[in-house]
Amino acid sequence: MIKKLGLTILVIGLLLSCVNASDDMSKWLRPAEVPQPKDNKLTPEKIELGKLLYFDVRLSKSEKISCATCHHPKKGWSDVNPTPKAVGHNGAVGPRNSPVVLNTAYQNRQFWDGRVKTLEQQALGPIEADVEMNMPLTTLIPKLNKIKGYVELFEKAFPGEGITKKTLAKAIASFERTVVSTISPFDRYALGNKDAISKKAKKGFELFKGKAHCVDCHDGFNFTDGSFHNIGLKDGELHGKDLGRYLTKRRAAWYGVMKTPTLRDVTKSSPYFHDGSAATLHEVAHICANGGRFKHNVKNKSTYIKDRELSRAEISQLVAFMNSLEGPDMKLEIPTKFPQ
Ligand code: HEC
Ligand code: HEC
Repeated sequence: MIKKLGLTILVIGLLLSCVNASDDMSKWLRPAEVPQPKDNKLTPEKIELGKLLYFDVRLSKSEKISCATCHHPKKGWSDVNPTPKAVGHNGAVGPRNSPVVLNTAYQNRQFWDGRVKTLEQQALGPIEADVEMNMPLTTLIPKLNKIKGYVELFEKAFPGEGITKKTLAKAIASFERTVVSTISPFDRYALGNKDAISKKAKKGFELFKGKAHCVDCHDGFNFTDGSFHNIGLKDGELHGKDLGRYLTKRRAAWYGVMKTPTLRDVTKSSPYFHDGSAATLHEVAHICANGGRFKHNVKNKSTYIKDRELSRAEISQLVAFMNSLEGPDMKLEIPTKFPQ
């Protein structure tokens, strides 16, 4: 009896360890479904409409800027003209670097400081922001209503609802939910093709999960914990500097913290960080693995950011690993004709 029990436990143990082993890799793979809110399920009509709106410069006051100006598919969904801080209406320079729109569908919070939750809540902000598209919605909605082609497309996507702030946001968000990363060499590796990435990248992956502690914050399929940290890019008090999530609520723990960005396709979206202050992945890896840009005297620096004493060769391995997260650009026909 006891023997039998022992055997059963052994078998269960073995099974569990197999499950664990495969779980370890499966957590890096894209979940089967893209999360969708209950009141805005994806339909082909919404996606197509959202795509047109996303690329349509008529959504800006100058008729020169679209969402794609700062989140372009050929630039890893970041600025079409790479720049440390976003350049919008009339050349106005905004306070922050444009994050990528890639995989934002999987995020629980949007913006570097996480000030809104959903893509629907996010979509209208940049249209109205004076440093971005500078287009009041009270002007835009009537303008779109005069474009017959849009009236028809909104009717198809949102029957009986008309062109409103709500339907505009829902359409753009629907398109953004299709902007997801493709299969990278790393994914093929995670799926079991041991030769899909170089030896150097494999070493980098081990460092990423181990000695370098990157995984403490860049975890899971989208390589982010969805949380916020101060990684020591600025020293001392942040007088006159970007206070990050602290701007949304004055909590001590939120002083200077920013959202952990995805690392998928990160090769495509230089420069890096919320202020665009690092040009290369080498520089970023060096900062993140060696205790931050400022090692001491940083108010509220994350305890996960420490000097991990990585050699130059190890930093290169981390970069090789990040390179392996680059997939081909997703298939997308960028619209050239817009509704009239
Ligand atoms: C002038 C450049 C510019 C334009 C135009 C622009 N954005 Fe952005 N976008 C930014 C910047 C900068 C941020 C980060 C702002 C912050 O965190 O405070 C951002 C943030 C975002 C985010 C959040 C991403 C994340 O990971 O947190 C999404 C989604 C987004 N923009 C979508 C859009 C859409 C949709 C449009 C068009 C309606 C648009 N943007 C137009 C510059 C721009
Ligand atoms: C304490 C959590 C934490 C750890 C540990 C960490 N990161 Fe980050 N990482 C962040 C946050 C937060 C940002 C954005 C910081 C900002 O802009 O202020 C970031 C930014 C980055 C970026 C820039 C991405 C972009 O689009 O701008 C890269 C690349 C990166 N980290 C790689 C790494 C690597 C490699 C490691 C390990 C050596 C690592 N990180 C360790 C939290 C972390």
